[in-house]
Amino acid sequence: MTNKSGQQLLLGIDLGTARTAIMSNRGVKTMVSSVVGYPKDIIGVKILNRTQVIGSEAIQKRTYLDLYYPLEDGVLKEASEKDLLAARELIKHAISLANPQEGDQLCGILGVPARASVANKGLLLKIAKEMLDISMVVSEPFMVAYGLGRLNNALIIDIGAGTIDICAMKGTVPGSDDQFTILKGGNYIDELLQNVISERYPEVQMTRYLACSLKEKHAFVGTPTEKVIVPLRAGGKPAMYDITQEIRLTCETIVGDIVEKLQHLVMVFDPEQQEEALRNIWLAGGGSNIKGLANMIMERMKDYGEVRVSCVEDPDYAGCAGALRLASELPPDYWGQVGDKIGV
Ligand SMILES: Nc1ncnc2c1ncn2[C@@H]1O[C@H](COP(=O)(O)OP(=O)(O)OP(=O)(O)O)[C@@H](O)[C@H]1O
Ligand SMILES: [Mg+2]
Repeated sequence: MTNKSGQQLLLGIDLGTARTAIMSNRGVKTMVSSVVGYPKDIIGVKILNRTQVIGSEAIQKRTYLDLYYPLEDGVLKEASEKDLLAARELIKHAISLANPQEGDQLCGILGVPARASVANKGLLLKIAKEMLDISMVVSEPFMVAYGLGRLNNALIIDIGAGTIDICAMKGTVPGSDDQFTILKGGNYIDELLQNVISERYPEVQMTRYLACSLKEKHAFVGTPTEKVIVPLRAGGKPAMYDITQEIRLTCETIVGDIVEKLQHLVMVFDPEQQEEALRNIWLAGGGSNIKGLANMIMERMKDYGEVRVSCVEDPDYAGCAGALRLASELPPDYWGQVGDKIGV
């Protein structure tokens, strides 16, 4: 399909558990919640006048929809036909947001978790092939590193909803020894937060969605600067509750794993490079918004000499922007040399 007469439309696509971000070389920059909802029964079809809903609208209308998160835990689920169908619909929808024109040659780079299995990558490429003329999958933290221009002596920590991906950049495409995936992202924190609030305040009505929104507003680690007191509902009535400790403790549960994996990854660099790598640690992904996280990681690594941990500027789009930058700087015909390429 490379002999199309139109222009190349280059796409960077970050397929996340919670959100799928897409950017194009024509200036599109947008995201959609990675969820597809199908009406539970005929009433739902009647209310919606559609047989599927994609994105945040599906979350809002979840009472009469069955929701599918096809990228749960950061990898394409193969659990059911419906999951695969949902994955396909989600990717198709994301591409449509980039507004492709008739005759465009569609070239997309898709981000997947650092250690997605070969089978999973294959499945993703198969779906991509149905919709794109040329495509490549690369690991998410590599995309972030590429976008930042930190390809050598750097450590990237991408804290997503399903996974935390950590990757050592050594001036080459990272191999499996250079990356770790921790299955403890934002979803894990949400579940824990829901449980600990329910334990402390059994009368309060809690859901995962509520826990997630409380976390997104108040997440922090370390010594609190102020109390987190929020309105919740008990027995249908509103009341104020102090959840400072609950927020702190649940957010801090990811720090130990991150530090442990960082300490492993420091050793993949040659000794004379380690100093520079330790000053070049970057946090990306939605979880990098947790206040105090960079400081706490630095504090726990203080035996390692000077350690600098920084948050990327635009954490929601860092991976996607990196994918687009890679797509723009490397002619699609060469993509096979960097990652998996199909469609040519
Ligand atoms: N201010 C915030 N504080 C803490 N967490 C946040 C904040 N904003 C967003 N998040 C969390 O970040 C996660 C989403 O981040 P991101 O979009 O990077 O994940 P994803 O790419 O969908 O997931 P993955 O990379 O695991 O597939 C969600 O769990 C969300 O609740
Ligand atoms: Mg992500």
